This record gives sequence, structure tokens and C-alpha cells, in this order.
Amino acid sequence: MKAVTYHGTKDVRVENVADPVIHAADDIVLRVTATAICGSDLHIYRGKIPAMEAGDIIGHEFMGIVEETGADVTALEPGDRVIVPFVIACGRCHFCAMNLFAACETSNTGTKAVVNPKHVRPGAALFGYSHLYGGVPGGQAEYVRVPKANFGPFKVPDTLSDERALFLTDILPTGYQAVLNAKVGPGSSLAIFGAGPVGLMAAACARMLGVETLYMIDHHDYRLQFAADNYGAIPINFDLGQDAAESLIAQSSHRGLDAVIDAVGFEAQGNAADTVLSNLKIEGSSGKALRHCITAVRRGGVVSVAGVYTGTIHAFLFGDIFDKGVTVKTGQTHVQRYLPELLTLIEQGKLYPDVIISHRLPLSQATEAYHMFDQHHDNCRKIVLTP
Ligand SMILES: NC(=O)c1ccc[n+]([C@@H]2O[C@H](COP(=O)([O-])OP(=O)(O)OC[C@H]3O[C@@H](n4cnc5c(N)ncnc54)[C@H](O)[C@@H]3O)[C@@H](O)[C@H]2O)c1
Ligand SMILES: [Zn+2]
Ligand SMILES: [Zn+2]
Repeated sequence: MKAVTYHGTKDVRVENVADPVIHAADDIVLRVTATAICGSDLHIYRGKIPAMEAGDIIGHEFMGIVEETGADVTALEPGDRVIVPFVIACGRCHFCAMNLFAACETSNTGTKAVVNPKHVRPGAALFGYSHLYGGVPGGQAEYVRVPKANFGPFKVPDTLSDERALFLTDILPTGYQAVLNAKVGPGSSLAIFGAGPVGLMAAACARMLGVETLYMIDHHDYRLQFAADNYGAIPINFDLGQDAAESLIAQSSHRGLDAVIDAVGFEAQGNAADTVLSNLKIEGSSGKALRHCITAVRRGGVVSVAGVYTGTIHAFLFGDIFDKGVTVKTGQTHVQRYLPELLTLIEQGKLYPDVIISHRLPLSQATEAYHMFDQHHDNCRKIVLTP
């Protein structure tokens, strides 16, 4: 089959690889009908995710038709049309019982997962996301093996197109979890740093839940314009004019906002000091967006971090978090927890996640697609690949 494989920084290829086969009795093999490129894939593309190996199949936002089922699979049969959460969870362990599916204790059996007995156990395995997260081959491919298939894959009604259902695999629940964690609702003020796909999904969910004043911060005007047109967001371009956090404070009677979402993560564009420290490996993550979030939130407010972080950040304003009594919520998304309600909201016409798609390409053009998304060419917002 054809699959998108990683070969080093900015080197992804579409290659012929062996077809996947059933390993465990609760696996299925899925024929992929649609798959998307995520901002998290860009961290891999830019060589920032450790424990990637040449030839690894990437991709974690995908859906398709069940092709084959293992002997113990009771929840699905060949021919079923499903979306697959990017988080692999068993549904039965200590943390799955707490609805903390991204903390599943049984799915990440990869040898490179952190298993030092002095440390906590690793979290869930993820599709196509390095050997730290289980080394499970991803879904930017014609076929993919799906472990824990009695729990993860979620049937979607034929009335929903692939494009409308696809983002249930990751970015829609991620935006939703970020907004729920932010504890905002009717009358609230919210700023979202990052107007990429995750920030836009958070904006859609915030509006649905009644957030009154919504700011979005980025430096790509075409993304900010889309957020203004579709979600009534007040755009702030952080390359122009006043410092973004200062501007948010000035516009909120110097109190700050009820909540701020970081939908950027550890590759946030930094100032000169950030860059020097990153280059010296003193700072593993850029704290540029996160520092702005901590500054812009009000006393007693919430900073909700959906963007991915790794390693250390210098000058982390913990004194401000303490002084203002700020709550910080973060983590991988517990996708399985939100799927039923989000599917209902899509069916009710309250969410149209597919509006953010800007490019549709065949899987065979994945190399060009990664380049375009990374470089923000052609006003790229979100790419769907079809095998
Ligand atoms: N928590 C989860 O489970 C989860 C799931 C999916 C994605 N993510 C993460 O969410 C983040 C966003 O994903 P995406 O698909 O939207 O990616 P993306 O790269 O398309 O979007 C990020 C946006 O942030 C902007 N940006 C960069 N520096 C900024 C700054 N200092 N201030 C404001 N904006 C800035 C960029 O211009 C870009 O538009 C990534 O880190 C991704 O890995 C997390
Ligand atoms: Zn993702
Ligand atoms: Zn589990």
C-alpha cells in the first residue's frame, strides 16, 4: 500500500510499504477514506519530536471503512464506517474508568515509552506519533491497523460526509476540551492565541457555548480574517502594533480576560531572547505564547493550554500564576469522552468543522501538502488527503 513516511527533518515521502495485518485479537484493519494533516504533524515534520525513526508511517486524523476484524472484535464488522480517535485507549483501565483516555495505562507498550519505576507510567499510545507514544503506524496511508478496536473507533451515520465527520478524530474535541477547561460560557471574555485549525475549532466551540467577547491572536492575517468572518473574533496581529497581552489588558478595563487559550504550543514564534535560549538548548519549548496567556488572564481566571509542550521554559511566570490565583489546565485530548456529544452537535447543525478546510489533495501529493501547510503557502488552513 501507499503511506506517508518520515525520513528526517522536512523529509516526508509517499512510499510503498507492506499492508498492515491484525496483530492482537481486538485489532481491525481499516481502509482509509480521508485523512488530514495536523499542526502536531508539523512538530514531527520540523524534526522536533524525539524517537522518530526513518520509515515511520505518520498521521493521526483519519477515518474509513472496516476491512478486516480480529477474532475478539465484537463492536464492529467489515463494512462499518468509522472515525478513529488519535488517542488509543482500552476503555477499561484505572484512568479510562475516570474518562481520562489520554492517560490509558494499557495502550502504550512501546519499548521507548518512559517506564522508569520512579516515574509515573506513560500515557496512552497515539497513532503515528513516535516511539515515545507507542510507535504505532499512523493513518496517512491507504490502510491502517487500529488497536483496541472494541473501544476507540466510532461509527458515523451515512448522512454525514467524510469531511464533516473527520475532525472528530482530533482537532474538534481538542478545541472543545480547551474551551470546557477554560470554564467560559454566556457573557465570558476569551482570547485564543493561535488561529490555526485547533484555535479555529476552539473559536467555533466558544461561540456555540455563548462566549461574548472573543479575541484571536496570530500573525497570519488570512487566518485572523477567517476567524473574524466566521466566528466574529476580534483579530490581533502580534507582529504589528502593541504587544498582544498589553493590548488585551488595555481592552478589558485593566482586569484581563476571563480565560485565555494557548492553541500554539512549544514552537511559538519567539523574541530574540527566546530564540537564543532555544538554540542553546536551555529552553526546550518556546514560552512566547504561554507567557502572553499568563499575562492576559484576569485574577481567578483560567489559562487553558491545548498546544503541545515539551521540556523546559525559562522565565515561567509562576509568581504571576500564584499572585493572580490562575488555574492552568492542559494535556492531550480525551477524545473518546467528547465524541458522542460532538457528533450530536454536528448533526443538529450547531458545528460545521469542515468549513476550515482550504485544500483537498490526493495522498500521493502528501510531500507537497506538508510543505504548503508548514510554509502557510496559498493561504493554507487545513488539508484533507484522500488515498
Ligand atoms: N492537546 C492536544 O491533544 C492537541 C491536539 C491537536 C493539536 N495540538 C497542538 O495544538 C497546536 C496548534 O495546532 P494547529 O493544528 O492549529 O497548528 P498550526 O501550526 O496550524 O497553528 C498554530 C498557529 O499559531 C500561530 N502562532 C505562532 N506563534 C504564535 C504566538 N506567539 N502567538 C499567537 N499565535 C502564534 C501560527 O502562526 C499558527 O497560525 C499545536 O501545538 C498542536 O501540536 C494539541
Ligand atoms: Zn493532531
Ligand atoms: Zn485504558
